Amino acid sequence: MDELITPRLRLRRARADDIDALHAVLSDPSAMRYWSTLPHTDIARTGDWLDGMIAATPEASDDFVIEHEGRVIGKAGCWQVPEIGYILHPDFWGRGLMREALTAILPRLFARFPIAAIRADVDPRNTVSLALLKRLDFTEVGRAARTWQIGEEWCDSVYLELSRR
Ligand SMILES: CC(C)(COP(=O)(O)OP(=O)(O)OC[C@H]1O[C@@H](n2cnc3c(N)ncnc32)[C@H](O)[C@@H]1OP(=O)(O)O)[C@@H](O)C(=O)NCCC(=O)NCCS
Repeated sequence: MDELITPRLRLRRARADDIDALHAVLSDPSAMRYWSTLPHTDIARTGDWLDGMIAATPEASDDFVIEHEGRVIGKAGCWQVPEIGYILHPDFWGRGLMREALTAILPRLFARFPIAAIRADVDPRNTVSLALLKRLDFTEVGRAARTWQIGEEWCDSVYLELSRR
């Protein structure tokens, strides 16, 4: 089953023609403020990223683009299980859409993969992402300093886990 339907969302596998919509997300400085790379300045960079998402092996990956009212507005899932990653276009923030997406995705990950926990690595300044994960019952399991160099800036990590119930 490569598609999940929620009340407001269709979660499906990425396709090559998602490139423009995903570039709109991945080139947005506010959406990318705490991402693991700088914003994509050219569409070829998004093309490489999308190729990686499409080519990911189903044995180790379960990742979705998020469609809302027929428009691709972000992505959520594990590019590499058990590490969760998600991003939405800022026009769609604050409406509970990512909570809705992850509420569908998390049980499916536990059903598909023999994992003890799903993990997240969040910049401690990313309070919205931390609040979202805590609302979904993730708990903090550790912290580390200077884990990512993004452009000129060193960033820290909060590690969170959701254990199998
Ligand atoms: C993090 C992100 C995906 C949240 O998506 P969203 O759809 O706006 O989040 P939701 O509306 O589902 O909110 C879920 C929870 O987040 C928190 N939240 C959402 N918007 C918030 C805001 N503006 N201020 C404070 N908390 C907020 C709330 O706790 C909310 O819980 P609630 O349902 O009890 O109100 C979105 O802000 C985003 O794409 N950010 C950029 C990418 C990113 O940082 N990804 C995570 C990397 S670790």
